[in-house]
Amino acid sequence: MRLGMPATRYFSYMVTSPQKWQFVLVANRLPVRRLWEGEQTKWVPSPGGLVSALRPVMAGNPNAVWVGWSGVPGAGADPFEMDGFQCHPLSISQGEIQLFYEGFSNATLWPLFHDALVPPEYHRTWWDSYRSVNERYAKVAAELAGPGATVWIHDYHLLLVPGLLREMRPDLRIGFFLHIPFPAWELYIRMPWRYEIIEGLLGANLIGLQTPLGADNFFRATSRITGAKTSGKTIVYAGRTTQVGIFPIGIDTNRVNDLLEDPTVQARAADIRQSLGSPQTVMLGVDRLDYTKGIEVRLRAFRELLAEGRLSPDRCTLIQIAEPSRSQVTGYAEVRRAVEQLVGDVNGNFGIMGRPVVHYLHQSHPISELVAMYSIADVMLVTPLRDGMNLVAKEYVASRTDNTGVLVLSEFTGAAHELRTAELVNPHDIEGLKSAMVAATHRSSGESAKAMKPMRRVVLSKTAQAWAENFLTKLEAC
Ligand code: F6P
Repeated sequence: MRLGMPATRYFSYMVTSPQKWQFVLVANRLPVRRLWEGEQTKWVPSPGGLVSALRPVMAGNPNAVWVGWSGVPGAGADPFEMDGFQCHPLSISQGEIQLFYEGFSNATLWPLFHDALVPPEYHRTWWDSYRSVNERYAKVAAELAGPGATVWIHDYHLLLVPGLLREMRPDLRIGFFLHIPFPAWELYIRMPWRYEIIEGLLGANLIGLQTPLGADNFFRATSRITGAKTSGKTIVYAGRTTQVGIFPIGIDTNRVNDLLEDPTVQARAADIRQSLGSPQTVMLGVDRLDYTKGIEVRLRAFRELLAEGRLSPDRCTLIQIAEPSRSQVTGYAEVRRAVEQLVGDVNGNFGIMGRPVVHYLHQSHPISELVAMYSIADVMLVTPLRDGMNLVAKEYVASRTDNTGVLVLSEFTGAAHELRTAELVNPHDIEGLKSAMVAATHRSSGESAKAMKPMRRVVLSKTAQAWAENFLTKLEAC
């Protein structure tokens, strides 16, 4: 059964029987997460860029299975079919969520791989849980993969899976893609299990990274830690060869286009602009509420510009979407407090009755609502302190069909390597960021179009589907 329902609706599901698959995708999360409604299970879209990029790649592939966590603690669910491919839920206990997901994945690896923006914590109990959950993913992938099948493993939650799976099933073709940055050698060597992680990754035939810097960092860490021989894009270690490639991820541009043409999305866009009081300039930020995203720095810059009279609260409004994320993990509650304090401060000082200057929404929004916002945003603020790619920047560009709008983009995103004509900023330099924000509001339509056109060419040609095809073609050749 192919459901093919819009991502914003609930999914029903159909249980299917066990079989072997020619293509196995392994990621921490399934594309949908489980919700209980009374006695009934519903599946709703999972958060995050990984899911939105990979779902169209899997859609309509009857030989493919996606292995991942159902998004709730405890017992897994039965396998089911969705959008023409199979989903295989894997169970993770409440304790493992604390140790494997919140602990090692998001309080050790995530900060370490994002330039140690908050201090990474190293705990042996977290590591033990990380290893045992990785073993579970590897075991399930080994059971589901047919002879000589291709297995594509994703992201920092599953760094050990390629090596574990290689031991269980030497016949498989194994690819791994890291969606986040790979850190500088000087940072990476702080990791107590630095050798085990590199060895785990080297179980893959092909490792993909988002940027040339990530690939350089990975090569350097690998050769120093393992003594492996590296030449060009190849690593030879323990009698096996691993290729490393740079594959910047893209977005599903068809989906954005369909939404832009949808009259309800168009009406919603007009509605949003009107409800803001039809300001001259709408600025927009869309992020998970994460300390890597530079939301605070953006709000401080905005506050200073209002105080200095360089932006006027009568003419300029900022919408800041902050999707709730990892609220139990160190650093996330703090960033929420800081962001909400800044929002209160700006609105308290510069808002007027019934009209705040910052519209802050600590909620997740369906892509249809985000596309409506992109289409009315004159200035898009993407200012992470570090980000593997940042697909929001690409979604904004894809939404600007008339070549209007200005993208203010941090140099420390993967997207900045490709979107060279964005208004590039160093988010640590608040004066530079302020100047870029003001310049963005003064851009003529001719200047905006000149910058937007080349970015649109990149985004529209390097889609999520093209990215996957490119990776899988290279993997087949390994
Ligand atoms: O690459 C980072 C990532 O894993 C993305 O897939 C996604 O945007 C986000 O983090 C999801 O985070 P979480 O699974 O912790 O909600």
